[in-house]
Amino acid sequence: MAQLWGGRFRKETDQLVYNFNASIGFDQKFYRQDIQGSIAHVKMLAKQAILTKQERDHIIGGLESILLDLESGELQITSEYEDIHSFVEAHLIDRIGEVGKKLHTGRSRNDQVALDMKLFIRNEITELDSLIKELLKVLERIMEENLHTYMPSFTHLQKAQPVTLAHHMGAYFEMFRRDRGRLHDIFERMNYCPLGSGALAGTIYPLDREYTAKLLDFYGPTANSMDSVSDRDYVIELLSAVSTVMMHLSRFSEEIIIWNSNEYSFVEIDDAYSTGSSIMPQKKNPDIAELIRGKTGRVYGALISVLTTMKGLPLAYNKDMQEDKEITFDALNTVKGCLALFTRMIDTIKFRKEVMEASAKKGFTNATDAADYLVRKGVPFRDAHGIVGRLVLTCIDKNCSLDDLSLEEFRSYTSVFEEDIYDAISMKTCVEKRMIAGATGAEAMKHVISANREYLQSE
Ligand code: ARG
Repeated sequence: MAQLWGGRFRKETDQLVYNFNASIGFDQKFYRQDIQGSIAHVKMLAKQAILTKQERDHIIGGLESILLDLESGELQITSEYEDIHSFVEAHLIDRIGEVGKKLHTGRSRNDQVALDMKLFIRNEITELDSLIKELLKVLERIMEENLHTYMPSFTHLQKAQPVTLAHHMGAYFEMFRRDRGRLHDIFERMNYCPLGSGALAGTIYPLDREYTAKLLDFYGPTANSMDSVSDRDYVIELLSAVSTVMMHLSRFSEEIIIWNSNEYSFVEIDDAYSTGSSIMPQKKNPDIAELIRGKTGRVYGALISVLTTMKGLPLAYNKDMQEDKEITFDALNTVKGCLALFTRMIDTIKFRKEVMEASAKKGFTNATDAADYLVRKGVPFRDAHGIVGRLVLTCIDKNCSLDDLSLEEFRSYTSVFEEDIYDAISMKTCVEKRMIAGATGAEAMKHVISANREYLQSE
């Protein structure tokens, strides 16, 4: 046990208490952020003449050597220190002696941990953003290649209207693009530096908080020191944003699972991204998609967990807040792993275009267009809907599609039908005539695809 705060205690901490209280087991992840923050703090202290230049260089030299040794594996983080902050400070004093004891001047672990968490989260946001971008690039490629790949769309999981695979993938492109937007918003809101808030009330030292903030690439210092040490909004916002990412991945996974089923056979997952059964030799299972769908619950759990931890906390810092870390680390690792794997799975998946197209031809996906045809010829929509509904019933009895009916059969319902009905309800017409903004036709999709390409190049 090596503690920073033994002075006012007469007894040793009970070992169980020590273990229960310690966070080194998980906040050791912060060693880079902790050292980076300390170096900035020391530079500022020297600039403000709170430390001499010599003291500054001494301390920075010590901190850099600790970082180097940690990176190379020479130095191991061990559990006799309460947390990463104590570990770094104790090692610094060990290495450079008395002057190391000046590092913590004008600082508390409360603003220190707030800083470390922010530096860490900022980095995570950048990583998540590039993982989502990779997925968007794959989606864009699939869209470009499938402007004319026809497939059924669904409502209630019942066949609705024919669309293109490009359009379907485009829906996910929009979702993940919004996810990136959310990450960006969070970054913008959180990027203010808590250092200099001290325990909660600020400090009597003339710290230059603008300077520290600048050194650490923040937009500026935070405005209220009590808020600074007790704010975990950015953690909650990030967990909420990644929960939404998981929700999107999970919906997509669900579709892949359905499409990969024997009955649908719209896709074939690459061998490298599927798994087999120990007993049934014929099986090729979509386990990756299922796991992603499953892990979504775990990430939602993290969000609810941190929200619940924070809900009853009086200002300012409370030890409860230490509970944010393991949960957040786990959630972020989960999301990053899922994003990377999903991207590879979708990049290598084989779309069975002929099966998709054949499926779109069945299930009366052109019934709306048959009704619209009658409307164009002057039949009120409600009547047209009724006529086509009866035609569909006829087809069900005859086990055929609308296109298979003879003109006489069409005309037995209304003489408004003419030879051009066949062209009006062909799959090509159904899809390609939908060319207003946002629609499935290639004319509309081309605009979206080129706008997406520009977006991917610029952001
Ligand atoms: N390990 C602590 C945390 O994660 C660091 C802050 C400790 N501050 C304190 N006053 N006990 O929140």
